[in-house]
Amino acid sequence: MMQHSPASERNRQPILEALQHVLPAKGLALEVASGTGQHAAFFAQGLPGWIWQPSDATPGGFASIRTWCAQAGVANVRAPVVLDVLSPRWPDDGDVFDQPFDAVFCANMLHIAPWATCSGLMRGAARHLAVDGSLLTYGPYLEQGAPTAPGNLEFDRSLRTRNPAWGIRALEDVVREARAAGLQLHARIPMPANNLLLVFKRPANAGSAGPQT
Ligand SMILES: C[S@@+](CC[C@H](N)C(=O)[O-])C[C@H]1O[C@@H](n2cnc3c(N)ncnc32)[C@H](O)[C@@H]1O
Repeated sequence: MMQHSPASERNRQPILEALQHVLPAKGLALEVASGTGQHAAFFAQGLPGWIWQPSDATPGGFASIRTWCAQAGVANVRAPVVLDVLSPRWPDDGDVFDQPFDAVFCANMLHIAPWATCSGLMRGAARHLAVDGSLLTYGPYLEQGAPTAPGNLEFDRSLRTRNPAWGIRALEDVVREARAAGLQLHARIPMPANNLLLVFKRPANAGSAGPQT
């Protein structure tokens, strides 16, 4: 069954263009919180030198991910795996990733999940990124000293009403969690509709296993 997210439809082209600009020509990418699979299919198509590994906390969207990828005719997407960022071991289906990832990509999860997922994402990415690999997070953020767009304030209120554990995160808090995990903010790329693409790097001195949770 194919699930459809209008937001993914809107943001996939600008995100792809940013990824094409930021990422090298080839590599192995892990997508955290793949959702419908629209991003996986589109990015695998637009980044033909990359192998794309989709994942999500539960397998409910896996049929949709497979269908979007089949429809796009992409051969560079691996089968989706169950990966809950809160799990101390990624993925938590018994399998272990045996190869470091050159990039970890996560869109629109941090504000639609409890705050603890931020630390889980940062620590897991630090464990599984290759040296000089990138963690890329896409979504809305609150920024100190910068006026928050009315649309984002309203979105934040509606998220917190739906679930008090949700809400748009402060950029500085996200950067602090990244730093605690050994990742450094490398780039802040403004995106349409008051979103940001943040690029974090795993520096050479982070240690081969990365910080443990
Ligand atoms: C709003 S959707 C975003 C989906 C997709 N990345 C996109 O941008 O269209 C939020 C996603 O976060 C995932 N998610 C929530 N908690 C998670 C966790 N603890 N670990 C991994 N994924 C999680 C959900 O399953 C869902 O797919």
